Amino acid sequence: MTVSSAPGKVYLFGEHAVVYGEPAVPCAVERRATVSVTARDDDHVRVRAEDLSLNGFTVEYSGSTSDRPDVDVPAPLVEAAVGYIDAAVDQARDAADAPNAGFDITVQSAIPLGAGLGSSAAVVVAGIDAATRELGVELSPREIADRAYQAEYEVQDGQASRADTFCSAMGGAVRVEGDDCRTIDAPALPFVIGFDGGAGDTGALVAGVRDLREQYDFAADTVSTIGDIVRRGETLLADADPDEEPDDEFLTELGGFMNFNHGLLEALGVSSRSLDSMVWSAREAGSYGAKLTGAGGGGCIVAIDPTPETMTALRFTPGCEDAFRAELATEGVRVEEPPAAEESQSAEESA
Ligand code: PMV
Repeated sequence: MTVSSAPGKVYLFGEHAVVYGEPAVPCAVERRATVSVTARDDDHVRVRAEDLSLNGFTVEYSGSTSDRPDVDVPAPLVEAAVGYIDAAVDQARDAADAPNAGFDITVQSAIPLGAGLGSSAAVVVAGIDAATRELGVELSPREIADRAYQAEYEVQDGQASRADTFCSAMGGAVRVEGDDCRTIDAPALPFVIGFDGGAGDTGALVAGVRDLREQYDFAADTVSTIGDIVRRGETLLADADPDEEPDDEFLTELGGFMNFNHGLLEALGVSSRSLDSMVWSAREAGSYGAKLTGAGGGGCIVAIDPTPETMTALRFTPGCEDAFRAELATEGVRVEEPPAAEESQSAEESA
């Protein structure tokens, strides 16, 4: 058995605008998806998912997700989760030149699904890493990022930027502009995340911004202004000492840029009442800045606050289902120790 994990992410700046070639800065956060893979003797793929807000499910299928799994959870959620695993399996088979490889796969994730924290990217990244290693092939994090992007691109019908998958594979703060992906230095930012328990429809939200941008010059200007904020934010990060705790002046300016970015996303129609109310609670609790993260429409906000105030305020905010602190995840995809029980079980089996 091979076990790999990969982190989720928040967008410090730049979601949506990144779709039109503007830069974006996502940051990996210490909430991980863990994928355990054991090679099988046949070409079947058996997937078990836990903690995916799916109440846990097990499916077995041989070829692709077109063999609809027979499980008692809403079909779109199962199709989405299985679709990502399926695409990750295809990438691993291709990388290892083993088109008929079969796997038993278990997915565990502490990242809310579809909530702007990059859950699908983390599952795909960890899945490709674990499955290729299980077949004796070791890919670099950049190669995994690239293959994970291809997998997401396929599942999302071409509506994916490289941001989530690159950030999850590499860890830390990254900068993505079209196909140009780099890691950048950033100090340890005190992120607080608020989650409304829901999820936005990424495809519909991206399409909405595309329509607005095509229809109105001022909407196109709004998208490029988000790009301007990202460039200012990047300069601010580049001037900070990544090894020092960030000071008040730095956080005030960074938070101000996040607030501005949220206002423009709101203008583009991708916020929601619950996201706005969490953003305002965070601001009123004294956070340096707060914005939605990801596609919007529902899901998560990210705020910057080194004190406990924002988290406490969010927990009392109507519409906020969960609030937690998330450290910057400096490590991207990594191999984990298999659980002790599994090790002794496979030792027994081979004895
Ligand atoms: O909600 P997420 O984490 O999938 O982020 C979507 C971000 C968008 O910029 C709206 C789309 C993309 O692929 O970059």
